[in-house]
Amino acid sequence: MNANQYLIGVPGSRQSLDTPALLIELPALKRNIARMAELAASRGIGLRPHAKSHKSVEIARAQIEAGAIGVSCATLGEAQVMVEAGIPGVLVTSPVVGANKVRRLVELARQAGPGRLMVVVDHPNNVEALASEAAGLGYRLPVLVDYHSGYHRTGVADAESAVDLARKIASTDTLVLRGLQAYGGNVQHIGDRRQREEAAAGLRRNAAAVVAAIEAAGMQVDIVTGVGTGTHDFDSSARVFTEMQPGSYLFMDSAYLDALTDASHAAPFETSLFVQSTVVSVNAKDWVTVDAGIKSLATDSGKPLAARGIAGASQYEFFGDEHGKLIGDPAHRPSLGERIEFVTSHCDPTVNLHSFYHVVDGDTLVDIWPIQARGRL
Ligand SMILES: Cc1ncc(COP(=O)(O)O)c(C=O)c1O
Repeated sequence: MNANQYLIGVPGSRQSLDTPALLIELPALKRNIARMAELAASRGIGLRPHAKSHKSVEIARAQIEAGAIGVSCATLGEAQVMVEAGIPGVLVTSPVVGANKVRRLVELARQAGPGRLMVVVDHPNNVEALASEAAGLGYRLPVLVDYHSGYHRTGVADAESAVDLARKIASTDTLVLRGLQAYGGNVQHIGDRRQREEAAAGLRRNAAAVVAAIEAAGMQVDIVTGVGTGTHDFDSSARVFTEMQPGSYLFMDSAYLDALTDASHAAPFETSLFVQSTVVSVNAKDWVTVDAGIKSLATDSGKPLAARGIAGASQYEFFGDEHGKLIGDPAHRPSLGERIEFVTSHCDPTVNLHSFYHVVDGDTLVDIWPIQARGRL
């Protein structure tokens, strides 16, 4: 039960929430979902948005209704939440390693049914483990070869290893090769647009060479997936990827706003995610204290921006687990109990700190959505 439930539908209730509260501005979220779906449709590329950003069944459903072919998931636990909610076309974009996880994955594939769950692989041992576990599945488990794409987080290192792995998959009776994943996490936030475009083009050339090598070895590559918010515009107009898996476009955190905005380019999506806090102490001379600290706001990509509820320039500083220090213009000092809303610097880990989205339209709380896949491994 959420403490703010009683405020749903009450005009002006945005200003009465118990905080810290994670907020979604619904009209902006809907516009972002529609904009990405329309762009993908107009360029003839599939859209399998990444659910690692939102971890929410309600948002996954809205993406599917707008035309997405499925959702991508970073963890098996996220995939479980999505499959159990009946979301089709779930792709697990990280290798699933470990005996119990492999068992859980195959069990989930059984529950999902044919064609509704896929997973990436990057090592022959993992192929063997999956192939053996999938023996009792009743259909061939679809898998994609994961290519490191210059990122070297997961994925095979080169075209030769990709071909070897594809052959190993093809030699099993229980797995089926569906294609390639090539996600460049290191490319997405390059602030200079020209450099980002060149890096994305380089990644596509490498991915195309890997696809060509697998096909030259006599195997079929139906799916080429990858692409985040930072490169969606470039990658969707080239012909290498068959689908995209962007996540952050829904929310547009401040790190992405910085990276994708310059003198001649406005941000391609709107910020829809905010953390609302309350001013809980005003006794210090040079700052006020708000009730949002490192348990409400991700810290890995810098400080949040005070965006709503404060006039004049202000600076947030983390002030422990539950608190933040807000140093502002003395002429516009907020008083006790005032609400200040922040744009987080990194949306995914901020979402993972909360159990609910408070969905607002203007000044009114219109719904509360649970973040079902929060913390799911
Ligand atoms: C494998 C993978 N695909 C897609 C995404 C989504 O990227 P973004 O949030 O930059 O759109 C991520 C994000 O980390 C990812 O790890």
